[in-house]
Amino acid sequence: MVGVTWRLGDLTVNRVGFGAMRLPQQGGAFDPEARPRDRAQAIGVLRKAVELGVNHIDTAAFYFSATRSANELINSALAPYREDLVIVTKVGPSRTPQGEWLPLATPGQLRGQVEENLRQLGRDHLDVVNLRVSGLDDISAHFEQLARLRQDGLVRHLGLSNVKPHHLDQAQRIAEVVCVQNSYGLGHHPEQDEFIGVCGERGVAFVPFFALTGAAREAGGQQEDAEVTEIARAHGASPAQVRLAWTLARGPHVLVIPGTGDPEHLKQNVEAGELRLTPEELARLDALHLNDG
Ligand SMILES: NC(=O)c1ccc[n+]([C@@H]2O[C@H](COP(=O)([O-])OP(=O)(O)OC[C@H]3O[C@@H](n4cnc5c(N)ncnc54)[C@H](OP(=O)(O)O)[C@@H]3O)[C@@H](O)[C@H]2O)c1
Repeated sequence: MVGVTWRLGDLTVNRVGFGAMRLPQQGGAFDPEARPRDRAQAIGVLRKAVELGVNHIDTAAFYFSATRSANELINSALAPYREDLVIVTKVGPSRTPQGEWLPLATPGQLRGQVEENLRQLGRDHLDVVNLRVSGLDDISAHFEQLARLRQDGLVRHLGLSNVKPHHLDQAQRIAEVVCVQNSYGLGHHPEQDEFIGVCGERGVAFVPFFALTGAAREAGGQQEDAEVTEIARAHGASPAQVRLAWTLARGPHVLVIPGTGDPEHLKQNVEAGELRLTPEELARLDALHLNDG
């Protein structure tokens, strides 16, 4: 039901995962006006995801609304954790308790962020930690610190997020990188195509975020394209499923982590792992990707 698998280091994940950013609130993530999501609904979606075969969940300590935290919801819904569940979190950014963004963490602050994730998730180690970068040309000092935390046993594997190819080079000189998480989707950042190829050649998973919302980002609600809708109709599928299937077709190392608070959307997203587009449909979507981008 969730397509084939990929390995993040020694951990095997199904290629359709789940992004928890949208769980703490209804509507746009990080919107101060957004209403906290119903707790039972959020917990139900997480349990359903795992029941459907999802074993890769993306989260962060800075995913929270006034009264809900993605990490706490994951802990409440899924602990004690199944052996095969891989929880990927990210460090670098952080927010005040009121939700305002703070400057990117210094290398010395990363241990505290890793420990915060451990406390919230109720774990003794984190499966994968992504260094989420913004505005840093050289990430070496940050990544060295994460490599130390890995040696100390707090983290099993390391990844990168929001990075350029030279950041991957810098990080790989320091420690193994199992995944790169960047903003990408059909018609969204086609300039990433080459980087996706580089990740594939090096055996690094490429994990796009905003694969469904694209340029609409956290706000969501992107206008659907006629071509995508037509292809979806031919398969009795939804446009979102076509977007996910196209993304997965970019390479065996490409994983998806669609976010949803809707159980029906969740089921569709998991089933998108089984949707096979024809070479002709893929070519039409590739052309759209390059034109839209
Ligand atoms: N590393 C980073 O910097 C970074 C940045 C942003 C996000 N992320 C991660 O990436 C994950 C994915 O990003 P995202 O959640 O922002 O965007 P996304 O997966 O591209 O799209 C989510 C949006 O699409 C809707 N949706 C989901 N499934 C659908 C379906 N089958 N049919 C129609 N609509 C559907 C959701 O609304 P409903 O709730 O109504 O389904 C939501 O509005 C996040 O959850 C987060 O874990 C990482």
